[in-house]
Amino acid sequence: MNVEEIRKDFPIFANRDIAYLDNGATTQKPIQVINAVKEFYEKYNANPHRGAYTLSLEATEKYENARTKVAKFINAKHREEIIFSKNATESLNLIAYSYGMEGLKSGDEVTLSIMEHHSNLVPWQKITKATGSKLNYMYINDEFEIPEEEIKKKITNKTKIVGITHVSNSLGTKNDIKKIIKYAHKMGAIVIVDGSQSIPHMKIDVQELDADFFVFSGHKMLSPLGIGALYGKKALLEKMTPFLMGGDMIEYVYEQDTTFAEVPYKFEAGTQNVEGAVGLDAAIDYIENIGYDKIQEIEQDVVSYAREELSKLDFLSLYLTPNKENHSSVISFNIKGIHPHDVASILDTEGVCVRSGNHCTQPLMRYLKIDSTCRASFYFYNTKEDVDRLVKALNKAYDMFKKYIKE
Ligand code: ALA
Repeated sequence: MNVEEIRKDFPIFANRDIAYLDNGATTQKPIQVINAVKEFYEKYNANPHRGAYTLSLEATEKYENARTKVAKFINAKHREEIIFSKNATESLNLIAYSYGMEGLKSGDEVTLSIMEHHSNLVPWQKITKATGSKLNYMYINDEFEIPEEEIKKKITNKTKIVGITHVSNSLGTKNDIKKIIKYAHKMGAIVIVDGSQSIPHMKIDVQELDADFFVFSGHKMLSPLGIGALYGKKALLEKMTPFLMGGDMIEYVYEQDTTFAEVPYKFEAGTQNVEGAVGLDAAIDYIENIGYDKIQEIEQDVVSYAREELSKLDFLSLYLTPNKENHSSVISFNIKGIHPHDVASILDTEGVCVRSGNHCTQPLMRYLKIDSTCRASFYFYNTKEDVDRLVKALNKAYDMFKKYIKE
């Protein structure tokens, strides 16, 4: 399939004349995913795991098939290692509370990268304060990458947990998580990988990576909003106590005590987002049908073009590693002297959708000595015409604002 054919699967592009470059926030949805959700409501809707009647059993089957699909997709050893959540944020909170709160003590350390999304950072502030452990950070160099010396300096034998984003949502830097995991394991730490910005673009094999936890949101990879997943090694999940209580996550409930269900169910309290799981199942089919090789071929073509064209605009500051092989599909930039929200509003008048702000990475922004950026984030349905539209709109914004720019 070529990009023109792919775009026909996405109804939004027939309905809106836009250059959609906010895929880091959420992707558009193909008709196959929309139809899978519609079919679920038209033919299978019931509460899974609750009823003994056929319709509920079929809803359960749909939900559990989605779990098996996710497990195979990321090559988990056991399907029970997949827990459905609302999104990566909820998955990360689950790990922080269920693993961190009980597993950390005074003198222990949690090491994060400075490029973490708040979702893999704020929970650890709370947990390290509550347990008397220490939070420290691996900082980046001038190329927006974490140098090897920094990894070795910050991951020590005191480190019990490492939290690392696979791809930065603000910079697009691709971290060498395989190397980080190997080193962290050598030092006796477990590693939590935030895969929200990687799994839409690249094949993930959790066994090959040897990740202890790997989380992602479905909506950044073609699925409906409100569905996410947490992969955890079974032995770790079995030792953890549940995060949310109630609903179907119990075994026996007494007046004063409760025993909990097996994994994964002990982590899935309350009625689950079955339509989301069904949509995620269809999204995985869609991605596998196109294939990551093709996805990367299209993205590399468009992102390389964007890197080149944006580099020609001397009024832009780019926050971008020069090493193409360490860069994914996100490009952050600023028009020097102009607030990114103002720039994004002008881009919007040209039908160009980008995110502006701190991208939920305030510590990173502070480290870079900026408040915020504009961010163009690409997916495999984007074209060079989208890039041209972005460049034209940026020139328009610069022309409008240049008289206000103080040298
Ligand atoms: N975490 C999402 C982003 O980076 C919302 O835009």
